[in-house]
Amino acid sequence: MSAPPPAAGRRCRIAVLASGRGSNLQALLDAIATGTLAAEIAGVLSDRPDAQALARARAAGVPARALSPADHASRAAFDAALFEAVDALAPDLIVCAGYMRLIDAAAVAPRSARTINIHPSLLPAFKGLRTHRQALAAGVATHGASVHFVTPDLDGGPVIAQAAVPVLPGDDEAALAARVLAREHPLLVETVRRLAAGRIRLTAGGIESDGRPLPAPLQLGANNRFA
Ligand code: GRF
Repeated sequence: MSAPPPAAGRRCRIAVLASGRGSNLQALLDAIATGTLAAEIAGVLSDRPDAQALARARAAGVPARALSPADHASRAAFDAALFEAVDALAPDLIVCAGYMRLIDAAAVAPRSARTINIHPSLLPAFKGLRTHRQALAAGVATHGASVHFVTPDLDGGPVIAQAAVPVLPGDDEAALAARVLAREHPLLVETVRRLAAGRIRLTAGGIESDGRPLPAPLQLGANNRFA
């Protein structure tokens, strides 16, 4: 089940799936451009031709393409076509960064050990959509974001790393979303850095970090490193 790290001396090739704004993709592109992340975005794929993520990719010289769900007879057929395009990029790692469609289990399961997603909550709390609204309604004092391996269990795959933020008096959804998003970017970059270095692996027994079982998700510190 564990995915091999890229061969020594070769940069980790990443395929990114994104449906919208693409700020998490931009964080990866910026980290690569500034030399703080040793990886390569091999391509960006979307289910929406108008996704800003596609424009961000093209501006960085990264191949970008949208496939339309309406052109396919079923979710399974769309995902088969999408992942054919993903596989053509020969990625070591697949990053779902604001990819908003459910993925068919048949497409997810064989790729779980090299597919991650960033989700705007401290999983297992607040799966699904409108996570900031869910957090405010629940009255929690701490909220945040998680990066997890993608399994057929929606937002339920093993959690690799998290970044926490306080919920402050007077917060509305927009304020809380902005505070979380600001932490998503370094969280994703730092998690991808560890994966690209082969330090994190999904095994049949769970996540291993530096060859040892990871007892709890890594926590992003104020210095944007894991504690
Ligand atoms: C992020 O909040 C991410 O956690 C969620 O969707 C949003 C995508 O933002 N899955 P962006 O497209 O990366 O700006």
